[in-house]
Amino acid sequence: VDADGRKHFDLRLQTGRSELLPGRSTETWGVNGAYLGPTIRARTGDDVTMHVRNDLPEASSLHWHGMRLPAKMDGGPHQEVAPGATWSPHWTVKQPAASLWYHPHPHGKTAKHVYRGVSGMFLVDDAESDGLELPDEYGVDDIPLVIQDKKFTEDGELASGNESILDESVSGETGILGDTILVNGTHDPHFQASRTLTRLRVLNGSPARIYNLGFDDGRSFRVIGTDSGLLPAPQERERVVVSPGERVELLVRLEPGESPVLRSFPGGVGAGFPQDRLSGGDDTFDLIQLRAPTTLEPSQDIPEKLAEGERLTAPPDARVREFKLGGTSRINGERMDMARIDEVVPAGAIEVWEVRGGGNPHSFHIHDVAFRILDIDGEPPPAWLAGRKDTVYLPPGKRVRLVVEFGTDVDPEVPYMYHCHLLYHEDNGMMGQFVIV
Ligand code: C2O
Ligand code: CU
Ligand code: CU
Repeated sequence: VDADGRKHFDLRLQTGRSELLPGRSTETWGVNGAYLGPTIRARTGDDVTMHVRNDLPEASSLHWHGMRLPAKMDGGPHQEVAPGATWSPHWTVKQPAASLWYHPHPHGKTAKHVYRGVSGMFLVDDAESDGLELPDEYGVDDIPLVIQDKKFTEDGELASGNESILDESVSGETGILGDTILVNGTHDPHFQASRTLTRLRVLNGSPARIYNLGFDDGRSFRVIGTDSGLLPAPQERERVVVSPGERVELLVRLEPGESPVLRSFPGGVGAGFPQDRLSGGDDTFDLIQLRAPTTLEPSQDIPEKLAEGERLTAPPDARVREFKLGGTSRINGERMDMARIDEVVPAGAIEVWEVRGGGNPHSFHIHDVAFRILDIDGEPPPAWLAGRKDTVYLPPGKRVRLVVEFGTDVDPEVPYMYHCHLLYHEDNGMMGQFVIV
């Protein structure tokens, strides 16, 4: 924190070696370390400056996924940082408490850079979230879970070594699907609980895999938040589907001596045979075991109400835009072109975006905005999915309608992105650009 109260963060993108599998050493990339990066924490109203130094052997970037900020601070493909250079974006945090994240976004190479390990969480707090009786002791009862799947070669390197993971020989229609799960960079992890309630801030940081989260013993949990903020009230669930780029905050209650396993179950892709199998939707993976000792400190009761914020609603004359994802990595028939602006949006607009996929699953993300799902193929979303979001799962063939609240940082020159967050699709051109005017 400097004399003006501005918070500075030093982030260095670097190469290294990590023990991702027991007894094996793997070449990885990370931020301020060999794999993944530190959790950044800031408050609504904070002025922040990031000092991003790129010590990777190639150009990269850091994008603040879910953050509302001026386009030139966004860290997308127009803000690449050359090897050896430092980029220092700055902005004022002006959005409610949420679990955001950061990751590289270099043009055509996002999958490779994320897959090698450059990602981290970016938590935003505000006065309202401070006032809620939620577990909030980081590392004790408030735990980030960055879920990633990996494929290793015989000699323990990330499959395809130093080459792009976008090599067709390893990537099918969906992109790379690994057979080994890492949580926070750890294989086969467990968490030692000390209180009866644990808050899990789950990030699907995988390039292509869709998880259908639940517990091995069938217990339910409460969903308290999604991508861009807390829900109005906790929602009890036994399963939640999380596609690449999405976050979900869960509260899990444990009794002394219990040790349930958070698992990904089949059925999350929702495409049927054979697409489910091709997209990894038939797979089962254990993610992390929660272990409760014989005595647990009692936690507070779960609050009945969470975020008071007004629900995003579209005015009757809201502009409607349609997006069709499909073909060979196209949106509305076009592949991403850095020099083409696809959409021009007035500052502060609230619009309805109708997004439709083809035969493959997709995950649709818009920079700089928060949105609410109006309906999925005409059906209202389940309550846990009706909160503030920035990324949405697009089940094959379904049409998802979103009410989108745009930011007010005008810049007719520098675009923001919208794209599929299955990174192989994104890198191959399933991305478009919009400016705020
Ligand atoms: Cu998470 Cu355009 O990115
Ligand atoms: Cu983003
Ligand atoms: Cu896609």
